[in-house]
Amino acid sequence: MTVDTFISGLPKAELHLHIEGTLEPELKFALARRNGIDLPYADEAALRAAYDFDDLPGFLAVYYEGMTVLRTEQDFYDLAAAYAAKAHSQNIRYAEIFFDPQAHTGRGVAFDTVLRGLTRALDDAERETGFRGRLVMCFLRDFQAEFAMATLVQSLPYKEWIIGVGLDSDEAGNPPLKFAEVFARARAEGFRLTMHCDVDQRNSTEHIRQVVEEIGVDRIDHGVNALEDPALIAAILERGLGLTVCPISNAHVTDGLKAEEIRALLDQGVKVTVNSDDPAYFPGYVNENLAALREPAALTDEDLLRLQRNAIEISWAAPAVREEFLAELAAYESAGH
Ligand code: ADE
Ligand code: ZN
Repeated sequence: MTVDTFISGLPKAELHLHIEGTLEPELKFALARRNGIDLPYADEAALRAAYDFDDLPGFLAVYYEGMTVLRTEQDFYDLAAAYAAKAHSQNIRYAEIFFDPQAHTGRGVAFDTVLRGLTRALDDAERETGFRGRLVMCFLRDFQAEFAMATLVQSLPYKEWIIGVGLDSDEAGNPPLKFAEVFARARAEGFRLTMHCDVDQRNSTEHIRQVVEEIGVDRIDHGVNALEDPALIAAILERGLGLTVCPISNAHVTDGLKAEEIRALLDQGVKVTVNSDDPAYFPGYVNENLAALREPAALTDEDLLRLQRNAIEISWAAPAVREEFLAELAAYESAGH
């Protein structure tokens, strides 16, 4: 798939990206070597060939296994530094980046180690390239709410390094309401809220209803199944909620890019954004996701600009960052690219 020059030059913002999902095989091997871990694969190609999944639980098994090479602060630094460099190379100006602390503390890595490594890398990248990355802490929905609450409490001394909280991992049997108390506390502590409503799950529309009506999220990750219920779309529009969709990810864990659905959401005025989710596993960063979608979703240049305006509007960026990004977009548009 080719990325055209309009897409590659477009200033972009990304709101749905799991930092652990950016761990490319090359870095995985390098970290394994540094930490004295033997990977059960001959080389990077053999590792990639083992990425054999066609649904969310299948992906998650590979994803959690992959991240066990992350042990030290430097490992988390290197992971975030690699993503920041990639983002800069794609003209991504701003990203809100998920991390899964429980996937690390649960295997003995300190919360402080994770946070410090990621934060230091993003600070350095911002100074060196201007790329801005902000952290969003995700809770794992397939563990008990008590573990999420303990993690939230653990994060409080680091509040200024985290702009919001999310909910990810295996959705089956783990509805948003399981975490109502955790998210109420997070809101009270000043965090912004988002939750995954993965595509084509059991009870997808009920889960979307819960996040909109009961949890009161600020946006929804994925959420494409809202289209099945006009009342949900009406509620999303009324609240101005955005949907962070991830086409290449969808193609790997559902039955396609969901291009028609994304087109329909755009046409109905929903603030949709296009994101890469876990690009080391669903191959393609933001440019490739936009390129994959361009024809099947009939995206014009104007639509591509709108997707980026949507992203910054539904982001949690500071007003000055927002204005700077919108000015860059306006300049790009008026330069007639
Ligand atoms: N964790 C990382 N990527 C995820 C996704 N797409 N859905 C749910 N949990 C995830
Ligand atoms: Zn995701």
